[in-house]
Formats: sequence, structure tokens, C-alpha cells
Amino acid sequence: QKLQMNLEQIEKGGYDSFMLKEIYEQPQAIKDTFRGRMLVDQGLIKMAGVDDHIDKFLNAKRILVVACGTSWHAGLVAEYIFEELARIPVEVEYASEFRYRNPVINEDDVVIAISQSGETADTMAAIKLAKENGAFVFGVCNVVGSSISRETHAGAYTHAGPEIGVASTKAFTTQITVLTLIALQLAKKKGKISTSQFHNYLVELESIPSKVKDALESNDHIEQIASVYKNAKNCLYLGRGFNFPVALEGALKLKEISYIHAEGYPAAEMKHGPIALIDSDMPVVVIATKKGHYEKVVSNIQEIKSREGKIIGVVTQGDIDVRGLADHAIEVPDTLEFLTPLLTTIPLQLLSYHIAIALGRDVDQPRNLAKSVTVE
Ligand code: G6P
Repeated sequence: QKLQMNLEQIEKGGYDSFMLKEIYEQPQAIKDTFRGRMLVDQGLIKMAGVDDHIDKFLNAKRILVVACGTSWHAGLVAEYIFEELARIPVEVEYASEFRYRNPVINEDDVVIAISQSGETADTMAAIKLAKENGAFVFGVCNVVGSSISRETHAGAYTHAGPEIGVASTKAFTTQITVLTLIALQLAKKKGKISTSQFHNYLVELESIPSKVKDALESNDHIEQIASVYKNAKNCLYLGRGFNFPVALEGALKLKEISYIHAEGYPAAEMKHGPIALIDSDMPVVVIATKKGHYEKVVSNIQEIKSREGKIIGVVTQGDIDVRGLADHAIEVPDTLEFLTPLLTTIPLQLLSYHIAIALGRDVDQPRNLAKSVTVE
């Protein structure tokens, strides 16, 4: 027993939990994901799984993403990135819905299955269905040699290393990294971005690990914020564009490990429902980075404030406007808009983590949840 305890402590590498360790591993994990694939000096991306089947991707009329849970959120981020950069239409499906819906699948569809474990039963069934209908199926898995990685026609591993915490963290950011590399490769091959744009994007992507490190510096500040809101009964997460899926993922993280009810919404949808919930007991986490729809998000923040909601803003370093309105502002470094999810996700992971710890929850093994769901 004692030996086992010690072993576990060693595995946690000095962190109190696997989840915190995995949150902090993200700068390295993201680097490992693009290592050997992104050759910035040569202005190249090399991904065998994509390059060997490049015609399938270039001729695809659309991309269908199938996934569950956090991986589904990574798929949503990918939808924004693929459409923005490569101009390929994307649909993102819950694998469990897709498999039972008699979906329209064509031979010129590329299906991307995203799965950390590579063992999720619903995702596996969706892959089989897509294959039966003649689609090309590409896997984005973390676990090497997993069932899904073997069942798909080709794929790209995330190389995040083992993820033990049930709530997915580094798997999510590395999934987004892989999908971004694919989108950039296709954007270039399809002539949707110029060589110099492509090069600039690679340079910026290469700087993301150190910017994630910067974002992690807010840990103590976030711990303080967590102590203020740990007794909240509900929490709302808002984001727009590339950061709408990040809002969903932030809410999922809070639910999973703290058991506080949380909902993610596209910020502009607030007026179609959730605004009715806002009062002085409602913390609202708003992703309000200085890109995209910044002014619109600022006006959403004003609406929340006039209803006495408590605002936790995730803002770009140096931001003044949101800081002036929000009860708390958490900074992340500036980057290209399509890369912001890799940074804005970080404070939301830490916020859930600290709230859960303050409530005495078992963050690595939350009740009722499993790391991989191999049954329906
Ligand atoms: C479970 C896990 C989640 C994960 C989801 C999909 O619900 O608790 O963290 O996002 O399954 O798992 P997958 O391994 O397919 O990414």
C-alpha cells in the first residue's frame, strides 16, 4: 500500500494531482505535437497521414467530424479553423447521434474521428458506419495503437503523452494543435493562403508553447478567484467565434470536477435565454480577447453587469476596456485569432481545478465519470 502511494506520488511528478500535472505539461505537449511535423525554417508541414492521402483531403466536398465529450469540443474549434483557413465546409457531430441517425455520408466526404483514448464505443461505431458508406476516415487519437487508431484509414497522433486525469486537458489542446496543422496544410495546398501568410502562421504557432507558459502564470490569481466563487450554484461561460467552443469546454470542465452546474453559450445567444438567469449570484466567465468580435463581447459584458452578474473576463494582455468592467480579469498573451483557443482554454482549466480543490473534490477521479467510455 505504502509502496503504491509512493509510486503514485512519483508519477504525479510533484503535483497534487494528475490533472494539475497535465495542465502544466501543455507547453511541452503542444511542442511534442508539432515537433518533426512543422518545419518553420523550410516553410513546410509534414504529416504522413495527411500527405499520403492528400487527394482525399483536397477533393473532399466536406469534412465530417465525429467525437464525444471534450474531443467533440476540439472538433468544434476545428470547424472554425478549417472553414476560415482551408475554406472546406465542416460538420461536427456527436458520434452517438451520428451512428443512429441514418446520416448522409458520401464517398467524397472526409470523416475525422477525434478521440483521446481511441476506445470510445460511440466514436468507433460512427467510424464503422462512415467506412461502410465509402468515406475516407482519418483518426486523431492520443493513445498509440488504440482501437480507433487501428480502425481508421489513416491518422495523426496527438503525442500528448499519457493523460490520467479523467477531465481532459492536454489532450484537448494537442487535438486542436494537430487539427490546426492539418488545416494549415490544406489551406496552403488549396492556395487559400499565401506562402508568406503560411510562414507567419507557422512562426506564430511555434510561439504558442511559451505563450501557454505565460498563461499558466495566472495560476495564483485564478486560485484567489476560485475561492470567491466556489460556492456558486451555477456558472455561465460565454465566448464567440473560435472561442465559443472554448466556452463549452470551460463549462464542461467545471461540471465534471466541481459538480457545479455550468453552461457554455455563444455570447450573442445570451439574450435568447440565459440572460434570464443572471443576478448577483451568477458568475459569468466571458472570453473577451482583443480579436474577432471584441466590441460585441464588451457590450454583452455591459448587459451582464447591468443585471448585477459577476464577471470573470479572460482578456488579452494589456486590455483596459474589459478590465474596467469585469470583477476579475485574467490575462492571456496576444496571438492570431484562430490560435486563441490554445491560450484561453488554460485559465478555464485552472479555474475549474481550483474551485474543485477548494470544494474538496477528487479532481482526478470525479464521481460517475470514466476516462474512456467503451460501452454505450
Ligand atoms: C469521457 C471522458 C472525457 C472525454 C470523452 C471522450 O467522457 O471522461 O474526458 O472527452 O470520454 O473520450 P475520447 O477518449 O474519445 O476522447
